[in-house]
Amino acid sequence: MAGRPENLAGKVAQHVSGERLWDRLMVLSGFGATESGGVNRQALSDEEIAARAQLVRWAEAIGLEPSTDPLANLFLRYRGTNPALPAVLIGSHIDSQPTGGKFDGAFGVLAALEAVEAIIAGGVRPRRSIEVVSWMNEEGSRFAPGMMGSAGFCDVRELDEILRIRDQTGIAVETALHKVMSAESRVSHRPLGAKPAAFVEAHIEQGPILELEGKTIGIVTGIQGKRTFRVEVAGEENHAGTTPRSARRDAFVAAVDIVRALHEALWDDEDVVRLTIGMFNVSPNVPSVVPARVVFSLDLRHPDPARLRALGDAIGEVCRTAAGRCAVAVHELLHEPPLEFPLAIRQTIRSVATALQVSCMDIPSGAGHDARYLHSLCPTGMIFIPCKGGISHNEAESILEHHAADGARVLAEVAFALANAD
Ligand code: GLV
Ligand code: MN
Ligand code: MN
Repeated sequence: MAGRPENLAGKVAQHVSGERLWDRLMVLSGFGATESGGVNRQALSDEEIAARAQLVRWAEAIGLEPSTDPLANLFLRYRGTNPALPAVLIGSHIDSQPTGGKFDGAFGVLAALEAVEAIIAGGVRPRRSIEVVSWMNEEGSRFAPGMMGSAGFCDVRELDEILRIRDQTGIAVETALHKVMSAESRVSHRPLGAKPAAFVEAHIEQGPILELEGKTIGIVTGIQGKRTFRVEVAGEENHAGTTPRSARRDAFVAAVDIVRALHEALWDDEDVVRLTIGMFNVSPNVPSVVPARVVFSLDLRHPDPARLRALGDAIGEVCRTAAGRCAVAVHELLHEPPLEFPLAIRQTIRSVATALQVSCMDIPSGAGHDARYLHSLCPTGMIFIPCKGGISHNEAESILEHHAADGARVLAEVAFALANAD
């Protein structure tokens, strides 16, 4: 579904206020602000609840209708002239990593709000409604795996299965959701799903390419594949002073051997494989007890589906071979193949960027996004803007105000075109 060319002339983009967008980004970054200039606003936390309330205040002030579904995905609707038609969704997420930056996700939600505000200021109402969306738990740091709200919305994962997932303190998603719902008793409820006409997610690139190439807009071609695993290594607790090496079943030593073996086995000279062990828990984690148990995460990504399958399939054997006298269990949590966004939406983004004289280039996404699951439900696309030094998932994450404004201008025109398309 491509937009009509007459909608690509900058009619709504001229009403985008880069200053207002930047001010809102700074205000939102105050919810969960860390001392080092980043954000800790994990999914369904008090900080996120407060940030959601701010979003609703901004939305209501310009006449948008807020609603939320059983997974606390938050929608802010600008009603179209034919509200019975499926809506165009634009947005991202406002949860963050525990040591996250100000812009991952937040840029996409606030650029979407700015886009709608510009459309309203242009005095035009599209045929389809446009909904700004903030998906629940994209990051997956508190409740894993991430992209939970969009997975439930797109029926990729069962609601019941999601509700049972617990954080490290034992709080279930269901309990955390109740807290959000009771804080938002004024916000109306809607069921999960309802196939949108299209979804467009604006996001910071989280990599260095746009900055290196000197381009403002990335037309995202697709998202690379990802597999995630939980590895559990089991040894035996024993006394640090009395147990000889020959009698030890040290889960930590085994886990270190496993990690080294994994890095060797999955090594590629081309540097395309992405292998991350980002979470590593040792127990009992005290100085004078031989560790009996280690649980660690494995995040594996690759753009080629066959390579991703082969590499992921090799992990179990590599772990078992390196585990020595300890036992090891490997649980796969997620296997998502690479995907390509439809050409029609990519072309609409390109036409808009060209008409607005904003430089652009095609770019693949190394990071995962809610757009992955929406792609299984409706025509979906993504718009990237540069981020400084490609640094993200880091409190130092940084973007330029004029790139943010250009991203919102492109998004506004794309959303308006899609909302008027047949
Ligand atoms: C998203 O935050 C990802 O890890 O790709
Ligand atoms: Mn993100
Ligand atoms: Mn992220």
